[in-house]
Amino acid sequence: MNKGQKLLSKAKKIIPGGNQLLSKRSELFLPGYWPNYYKKAKGCKVWDLNNKVYYDFAGMGVTACVLGYSNDDINKSLIRGLRTGSMCTLNATEEVDLAKELLNIHKWSGMAKFCKSGGEACMVAIRIARAFTNKNNIAFCGYHGWHDWYLATNMSNSKNLDKQLLPGLKTKGVSNTFKNSIKPFLYNDINSLKKIFKKKNNNIGIIIMEPMRGVKPSGNFLRKVKLIAKKNNALLIFDEITSGFKDNYGGLHLKLKVNPDLAIFGKSIGNGYPISAIIGRKKIMQVAQETFISSTMWTDRLGFIAANTTLKKLKQLKINKKISIYGKMIKKGWKEIAKKNGIKIGISGQDCIPYLRFDYPNNQEIMTFFTQEMLKKGFLAGAQVATSYAYSIPVINKYLEATNIVFGKIHNCLDIGKFPLKGEIKHSTFKRLTG
Ligand SMILES: Cc1ncc(COP(=O)(O)O)c(C=O)c1O
Repeated sequence: MNKGQKLLSKAKKIIPGGNQLLSKRSELFLPGYWPNYYKKAKGCKVWDLNNKVYYDFAGMGVTACVLGYSNDDINKSLIRGLRTGSMCTLNATEEVDLAKELLNIHKWSGMAKFCKSGGEACMVAIRIARAFTNKNNIAFCGYHGWHDWYLATNMSNSKNLDKQLLPGLKTKGVSNTFKNSIKPFLYNDINSLKKIFKKKNNNIGIIIMEPMRGVKPSGNFLRKVKLIAKKNNALLIFDEITSGFKDNYGGLHLKLKVNPDLAIFGKSIGNGYPISAIIGRKKIMQVAQETFISSTMWTDRLGFIAANTTLKKLKQLKINKKISIYGKMIKKGWKEIAKKNGIKIGISGQDCIPYLRFDYPNNQEIMTFFTQEMLKKGFLAGAQVATSYAYSIPVINKYLEATNIVFGKIHNCLDIGKFPLKGEIKHSTFKRLTG
């Protein structure tokens, strides 16, 4: 057992599941052999408890750290914030600066609110939208966090999240009140949404979805969704927690040219510091004053500072363009290397968040083997890469060289029909709608 595994087994005795986020569990990467904990993270490098150093090609902090880990400019601005007080009876001016910038980027919006996590921001948007429309029910597509309003979909049909999230997700502890209030539809399947609205007395006032996850919208999908929302007096919410500020400066919807009524941001707007945002049309957002949405920690100054510095850097250095170029390099590299080694793969995702799939019935087993072998070569690697400004062309080339060797091994294992795994096959991560 490595030190990280030892600590995890202790952690599991005092923390349910061992940690706070499903996506960081070792079972989803390399059961029994994933390093689990880090001592230090800087740029795109991670030091584990055994002082082993890895390049992070496994998501860069669950896609949050576009600028890389422990970015010097963000650190400097945060240290200034700490020295001048991160919490106070009065409010932080940086909150207003962040609102101004987000509204300036998204000209269709007129007001902003802030909180800390993505799931929380989704909850805030849902509350505002419900208050505005006076309608209780929701049509959704994709993943939007852990809250009751969302998980409740599995109360009316235990398979509702199967095509969006983990199959068989349990609703233990979720309030009955929300049963039958939230209906799933599928990405790029407009009929699945139409069906929901066709039902008499559907009372749907909200459509919430990611503008894009793995595959591009086709057949004018987003425009059609917007039309359905308009026709039915429902609000359209784009959840941009993962898609926002990556391929472009702002929500991906700007690039896709469809504006929602409300949009939600998290993760990369603060380069991983706790900050999330909801923006929306003014007359909708103002309804937040007619309900109660309020929290002490949402006023913390450091999240605003981190976001302001992150956005400034993203804009000035045109980082979004750069990370998309890196992502394209990786996608092209995977394709060429797979062809060279005679293995079948699938590639999806925004350019800056490429996903890799092995097109074989034992994809999970092959992916576990890929992670195991890449780890030996000094890479944290799995199905998803989130490109970062901390990458460089030489680092990506190193990753592709290692990938080439491992793809060669995969070819040989496919030939003999056996993958020498040290531990168990990884569990399947929560499945995104298109990822
Ligand atoms: C689209 C989307 N919505 C909501 C969330 C939940 O955000 P958080 O984990 O910060 O609560 C995520 C996180 O992966 C996400 O990708």
